[in-house]
Amino acid sequence: MSTREKLLALLKESRGTCVSGESLTEKLKVSRAAVSKHVAALRQNGYDIAASPGKGYMFRETPDLLLPEEIRHGLETAVFGQKTIDYHTLIASTNDRAKELAAEGAEEGTLVLAENQSSGRGRKGRSWFSDEGGGICLSMILRPVMNPAEASRLTLMTAVALAETMTDVTGLSVNIKWPNDILVRGRKLSGILTEMSMEMDRVDYVVVGVGVNVNSDSRLFPADVRDIAASLAGEAGRPVSRADLVRRFLKRFEECYSLITGQGFKAIMDRWKALSDIIGRDVAVDLIGSRIRGRVEDVDGDGILVVRDEQGEVHRVISGDVLLQDLQA
Ligand code: BTN
Repeated sequence: MSTREKLLALLKESRGTCVSGESLTEKLKVSRAAVSKHVAALRQNGYDIAASPGKGYMFRETPDLLLPEEIRHGLETAVFGQKTIDYHTLIASTNDRAKELAAEGAEEGTLVLAENQSSGRGRKGRSWFSDEGGGICLSMILRPVMNPAEASRLTLMTAVALAETMTDVTGLSVNIKWPNDILVRGRKLSGILTEMSMEMDRVDYVVVGVGVNVNSDSRLFPADVRDIAASLAGEAGRPVSRADLVRRFLKRFEECYSLITGQGFKAIMDRWKALSDIIGRDVAVDLIGSRIRGRVEDVDGDGILVVRDEQGEVHRVISGDVLLQDLQA
């Protein structure tokens, strides 16, 4: 923990009461000038810390920002978020930045976080909208020892971790639309973009990018997604702490990740199925240049969508866009 993080933790422990400058210098083993420099920097970042001469400092309010010191405070992971957190108020794309860092050798568990993105990317070359301070834009670097053919499991696993975290935090009942969209009442709350670099038959690194509409103002959603997107706060009817959501997500993500690297994928796939109502549904699946219509028979142990079309032919879909036919007008 850096001195600034330790200072913040000490002030938070005594939230609402004054902590003397003297006790802080003793505990942190730094000078008075250093304490006041760190307090000034924290205030600059939006922390509400009062200073009263002769009494010391009093912590009053945390900004709802995704600052590294905020994420690390109370973070119960061993790896994810405990390494480098590369934080930005605005960046083109956290996935692009994470790929740069991974190519330079960044270790597993490295996190890129941004308050906003100017060129957020979605699946299939689409763009991803986020509003400053309203959403979460996060990318994680993974270095799994797995065959590249199995990497799609990481996306399904991320969807499980994210959906379960959303329900824990808000009480909302969410579900997963194959392969990885998280919906509430049929509207999209979040998206996952997984990108991989591989060498022959082994994965070099995987970047898992997660975008969540948390406190996003739905009036700001672009016209093409306004009717199909939702935010957690809008659905829950109250603001949601983004930092808390990130911390809880990282913990669950890490648990799921150790589960699949240790015991295999079946347990996660069972949880994925419990969160998805796709099996048995009539769907149209848009593939590159074609569309199939049929009924979903299964999502198999590798997350592949198994669809039987009207002629009885079975299609195994690795990647595509699913349209639920029973919801179409
Ligand atoms: C999708 O639903 O198409 C996937 C959207 C993924 C968006 C996230 S936001 C953080 C990360 N950085 C990006 O540029 N994209 C992902």
